[in-house]
Amino acid sequence: MITNDTALAVTALASGKLCAIPTETVYGLAANALDESAVARVFAAKERPADHPLIVHVASAQDANEWITELPKWAVELSAAVWPGPLTLVGPRTDLASDSVTGGQDTVAVRVPSHPIAQELLSQLKVAGIKGLVAPSANRFGHVSPTSAQHVAADLGAYLSANGDLILDGGDCEVGLESTIVLATGSAPVILRPGAITEADIERITGIKISTTATATPRVSGSLDSHYSPSAKVVLIEDETTAVFEPKSGFLALAMIQTPGELVRLGSPATIEDFAHDLYGCLRAGDDLGLEKIYVVPPVGEGLVQAINDRLQRAAF
Ligand code: TXA
Ligand code: MG
Repeated sequence: MITNDTALAVTALASGKLCAIPTETVYGLAANALDESAVARVFAAKERPADHPLIVHVASAQDANEWITELPKWAVELSAAVWPGPLTLVGPRTDLASDSVTGGQDTVAVRVPSHPIAQELLSQLKVAGIKGLVAPSANRFGHVSPTSAQHVAADLGAYLSANGDLILDGGDCEVGLESTIVLATGSAPVILRPGAITEADIERITGIKISTTATATPRVSGSLDSHYSPSAKVVLIEDETTAVFEPKSGFLALAMIQTPGELVRLGSPATIEDFAHDLYGCLRAGDDLGLEKIYVVPPVGEGLVQAINDRLQRAAF
C-alpha cells in the first residue's frame, strides 16, 4: 500500500482511487477534485464533517486560474513570488469547484505545492486530463497532521488498504506545518491560518499591511479550538525552571533548554525551522510511548514561531 512509484499513483488517482501524497508542508489525502465519489471517500476516510472545505492542489499558478475566477493584483503578485510553495489562496470559485469541495461556499482554496514528487504527480495528471487534486491533511479528523508516510499509515492505513487506495512515500515533509492560508477576496490580505509564509513575507511581497480581522468568516477547520491534538494532554510551559511536572511525562523544547527532572525528552530541535519540522512527529511519538502528558516550552518570537504557537495552542486546548 505504501509505494515510491509515482506512475502507480497517477494511475490510481486517474481511476478514482485515493492516494496520500507528500507535500513540502504535510502529507495530503488526495483525490481527483472533479470525481464526486472519490471526493466523498476523502471525507469518509478522514471522518471529516462534510461542510469543511478542501484545498485544491494544482501544478502551476496558471492552472489555479481554472479554479479561481479572479484574484486582486496583490494576490497575483504573492502567488507569483511564492508558488510553488507553502501558500494557499482562497478566492472566488469557478464552476469547476463543486459544493462538495468548497463546503457550499462561494470561494475555493487553491495551492501549488513545491515538493518535487507532488509537482511530478500533478504534471503527469494534467497530461491525463485531471485538473486538480483535493488534498486535506492525511490524518484522522482532529488529529495531528502527518509529516511522513508512516504517520499516514498509522491514522488511515486500515481504511486505505481495505479500499485499494495508496500512500505515495516522498520522505519527511520539509516544513512540517500546514500551508499559510490567505483570503484573497479583498483589497488587503487576510491570514486565515499562519504558516511558513509569514505575515512579514506577505507584507514585503505585496507592499500591503496585513488586515488581521477577517471581514467574512469562512469556515476553517483548522480554526476549531481543539484541533491538531495528540491523545496525550499537551501542557504549555512558560518557565521550565519553576514549573512542577508529573514524572514520566514527555518534554519538547529547543535544544538549548535542558530536560527537567525525569521527563522523557521527545525532541531537541536546534532551530525554529527544526521545531516546526519536528513538532508533529514528537507529539505522535508521545502517543506511541503511551504518555499521558507532554510538556512543551513554546519558542518565542515572530514569523514561523507564530505558526508553531498557533498549532501548540490548539494541541493544548
Ligand atoms: O499544507 C496544507 O495546506 C495541507 C497540504 C496537504 O496541502 N493541506 C491541509 O488541508 O492542511 P486541510 O484540509 O487539513 O486544511 C485546509 C484548510 C481547512 O482549515 C479549511 O477549512 C480551509 O483550508 N479552507 C478550505 N477551503 C476554504 C475556503 N473556501 N474558505 C476558507 N477556508 C477554507
Ligand atoms: Mg487538516
